[in-house]
Amino acid sequence: MTESVTVDAPAKVNLFLRVLGRRADGYHELETVFQAVALGDRLVLTLTPSGIDLVVDGPDLGAPERNLAVRAARAFFDASDQPVGVRIELTKRIPAGAGLGGGSSDAAAVLRGLSALVPGGPGPEALERIGAALGSDVPFFLGASPLAIGRGRGELLESLEPLEERAAVLVLPPVHVATGVAYTALDEQRDTGIGPADTERRLPGAAPSGWEDVAARAHNDFETVVPMRYPEVSRALAALSATGGRPTLLSGSGAACFSLFSEPEAAQRAAEDLSDTLRWPVVATHTLLRLPTPTIRAAR
Ligand code: C5P
Repeated sequence: MTESVTVDAPAKVNLFLRVLGRRADGYHELETVFQAVALGDRLVLTLTPSGIDLVVDGPDLGAPERNLAVRAARAFFDASDQPVGVRIELTKRIPAGAGLGGGSSDAAAVLRGLSALVPGGPGPEALERIGAALGSDVPFFLGASPLAIGRGRGELLESLEPLEERAAVLVLPPVHVATGVAYTALDEQRDTGIGPADTERRLPGAAPSGWEDVAARAHNDFETVVPMRYPEVSRALAALSATGGRPTLLSGSGAACFSLFSEPEAAQRAAEDLSDTLRWPVVATHTLLRLPTPTIRAAR
């Protein structure tokens, strides 16, 4: 009997993001704190005799062969004893290219789902290597905790004890920030010597002791370049900040911005107000206490 697996693929936000410097391989060394949130995509994987098929319910994501979920399946089968095929049904809710890790989370969900379905697949360490090769954020979504420090290019993880659930409001300004371009802008700014000095940037240091500590140390280096280039991002940050959410940050290199709230009702009110005033997509969600696990069921 063919089996299917359903995997939820959560989005992430960065509670802290410091870009340390350019490496010889073109990537940047960074220190970040990832937090998974409930907003997520859903993938249903069904084994087939051969090939990789992708069916997307949601916005057009472009050519399937460039899709990270498809590339993850291909990498998984390349590393398997008995390569078969898979049909991937992807319900897309995380906006693409927003700094929320949607593509990376989909890729991790495929790797986790196929591991649950296919005997003789790559082991945990091989899976981590495959994940890191697919994208810098993939290892976080393969990890053990919804809260983790990422170092290296983001793939070297230190899992942290999850903090209690916080309500989160995400604002999605209608602009696309290409990650590579944002890193280049940061390099250019630093090369000119304009902008914050290295010594002024704060470290994530030890694991955050609680949400107050997170709010006190919240920081994202991309806020020195992205809002000034994209006025919509600047407006989103100002509007979120005015609702009283703490911290208010850009996620990754953007364009999504978010605030956290201790009271779910306050978050709901803020989401409604922001949606009315900005007229951009606004999502009320919450932080996760654990990363979702695949659910196997007999195929239809
Ligand atoms: O690894 P990922 O595909 O997410 O990265 C997209 C682009 O962002 C890279 O091609 C690189 O230009 C830039 N990047 C970087 N340093 C990182 C992560 C990404 O320069 N740590």
